[in-house]
Amino acid sequence: MKGETRQPPAAPDRPVLSARGLVTAFSGLRAVDDVSLSVPRGEVLGVIGPNGAGKSTLFNLLAGERVPSRGSIELCGHRVEREPAAQRLARGLGRTFQIPRPFLALSVLENVMLGAQHHPGERVWANLFAAGSVQARERECRDQAMGWLDFMTLTPLARQPAQVLSIGQRKLLELARVLIAKPQVVLLDEPMAGVHPALVETLGERIATLAKQGTTFLLVEHQLSLIAALCDRVMVMANGRVLLEGTPDAVLADPAVADAYLGGGVP
Ligand SMILES: Nc1ncnc2c1ncn2[C@@H]1O[C@H](COP(=O)(O)OP(=O)(O)O)[C@@H](O)[C@H]1O
Ligand SMILES: [Mg+2]
Repeated sequence: MKGETRQPPAAPDRPVLSARGLVTAFSGLRAVDDVSLSVPRGEVLGVIGPNGAGKSTLFNLLAGERVPSRGSIELCGHRVEREPAAQRLARGLGRTFQIPRPFLALSVLENVMLGAQHHPGERVWANLFAAGSVQARERECRDQAMGWLDFMTLTPLARQPAQVLSIGQRKLLELARVLIAKPQVVLLDEPMAGVHPALVETLGERIATLAKQGTTFLLVEHQLSLIAALCDRVMVMANGRVLLEGTPDAVLADPAVADAYLGGGVP
């Protein structure tokens, strides 16, 4: 995008996102219990585990929806565990929610265009008010949003209010809204759930391409075939803790993973 002043990327030898000893509890129940992780640039890290394992809560801590009672988070070289979500967004952290939250009364296109405002350093409003550039900037933003909607097969719905979208379509809309901001790190919480199978493969390919270009992904996903196909590394959570991590092949072959998924005892 012209005129962009992206944040300098983290040094290659430093993880883009890392966390140490994260803890948070709901009424005494430790939903995230001493979780550490370190994700290098361009990695796709799968986060799997049974329902209630703490995956979404971990994402909420990383994204700034919730402050951990203990532990630290580093994003692109900055300590951020006490920063609000908006500031982490501005540093290049994008996220989608397990339950999408579009602005229902706005059009599908407007929802995606709003995502562009969060581009790190993009200063959309300042640019919009710069002399003579208003319409050009808006057109550019609109074109990009339409491009994403096209990719997500949502073009025919671009001018409809977001409330007409199915859950799967809302997931795609969220993904478009996040990706238009060109984030450095993206947290995807079950992005493929409810998405038409024909599109799942295309989306996976797009994620893989973006990762090759340097975008970092954390992916919560129940379809283990997708985890195997997309992830460089997989972290398994159970009862708020990291049960194990490793390559998809090693992790998915581990009997403890089958146990955790079947709700059996966690060693
Ligand atoms: N807002 C909340 N209030 C109370 N308990 C919660 C809340 N969010 C999550 N929990 C609890 O925290 C645990 C982890 O939940 P969650 O992070 O949603 O798991 P996952 O995403 O792995 O299914 C569960 O026991 C869940 O019931
Ligand atoms: Mg969840």
